[in-house]
Amino acid sequence: MSMVREVVLKRAPTATPVAEDFEVVERAAPTALSGQLLVRSLYQSLDPYVGSRLRGRHMGEPAPAPGDSLPGFSVGEVLASGDPAFAVGDRVVGEMGWTEVGVMASAETRRVSGDLPAAAHLGVLGMPGLTAWAGVTQLAKVGAGDIFSVDAAAGPVGGTAGQIARILGARTVGLAGGPEKCAVLTDIYGFDAAVDYRQPDWIQTFARETAPGSTVHFENVGLSILMPAMQRLQTYGRVVLCGMAEHYHAEAPPAQMPVGMVIGKRAAMLGLVVYDFYPRWSEWVELARPWIAEGKLVSVDDVSEGVESAPEQFARLMRGENRGKALVRMSDAG
Ligand SMILES: NC(=O)c1ccc[n+]([C@@H]2O[C@H](COP(=O)([O-])OP(=O)(O)OC[C@H]3O[C@@H](n4cnc5c(N)ncnc54)[C@H](OP(=O)(O)O)[C@@H]3O)[C@@H](O)[C@H]2O)c1
Repeated sequence: MSMVREVVLKRAPTATPVAEDFEVVERAAPTALSGQLLVRSLYQSLDPYVGSRLRGRHMGEPAPAPGDSLPGFSVGEVLASGDPAFAVGDRVVGEMGWTEVGVMASAETRRVSGDLPAAAHLGVLGMPGLTAWAGVTQLAKVGAGDIFSVDAAAGPVGGTAGQIARILGARTVGLAGGPEKCAVLTDIYGFDAAVDYRQPDWIQTFARETAPGSTVHFENVGLSILMPAMQRLQTYGRVVLCGMAEHYHAEAPPAQMPVGMVIGKRAAMLGLVVYDFYPRWSEWVELARPWIAEGKLVSVDDVSEGVESAPEQFARLMRGENRGKALVRMSDAG
């Protein structure tokens, strides 16, 4: 009997998740029944929302219990198909846990093209890229003349959002923590300017780079950046509220945002939930494909090797130490 390895939850985290909250278990390889696909994982996606989900703080979804499989997309290859719509060898994206070989429900699985790197289907073309597209083009409707600011800009959501905004004609200013991440913004993603929010004078730098003020601000981190960014927003500016990474594991909920500022700025506050845009995934992929081919849209991956590396790779993401899309390479091909 062949065996496969999977990372499962070992204990329920009570604070920011750490590597010791997980364990690698070995199981007999599963089989695919009707309506299922047996899939060999190439890459596992690790995403910030999983940390909140583990603590029962994500969109009302239940927290996994100790011993349970973990949420998140995998890209892999079909080994056996219980659905005539999928063939052995198809490249697919779906959820099956952080496992080397697992089972996806075919109704919730997308076939993706094999002509792009497999990892791209979890990052720039995956859920983070779709989030960026939705916020920039469907909610904020960014175009030529906009001054676009975004934080956590070295990550897959922020980095992709900035690149889309630039392609659409906006001036782009990215905020990130530390000089290494800031270099990625200007040297790889092509932002017009990068602001290191760890520098004591970052607000002055941000004000100078966004002068006379952002017309669109895309928020991924939380109030420590949103508040100064709101103060620099132009009248009738748009704010995409996408993520609150700095608050996910805080003991207390974030302070209230003063709504008077929203009124004074005549600001449009646009809440974003990517689930709403899942039915339009192929629209984003088709738009992005030529941009990727022309080198206008690039991605940076932060990849760890092997299923056993997933707990520490996830802990790095939880600490904000990732440099690009957090991934685990689960097997050699791809
Ligand atoms: N609304 C939706 O539907 C949706 C969908 C996908 C993602 N999101 C959200 O979008 C944001 C970006 O996602 P991503 O996948 O691209 O993540 P990511 O940027 O790869 O990682 C999160 C980043 O947040 C920053 N950060 C600031 N304070 C932090 C803290 N206290 N703890 C941890 N990280 C901190 C770090 O970057 P710096 O060091 O540069 O600050 C970190 O690298 C997240 O908030 C995520 O939850 C929302």
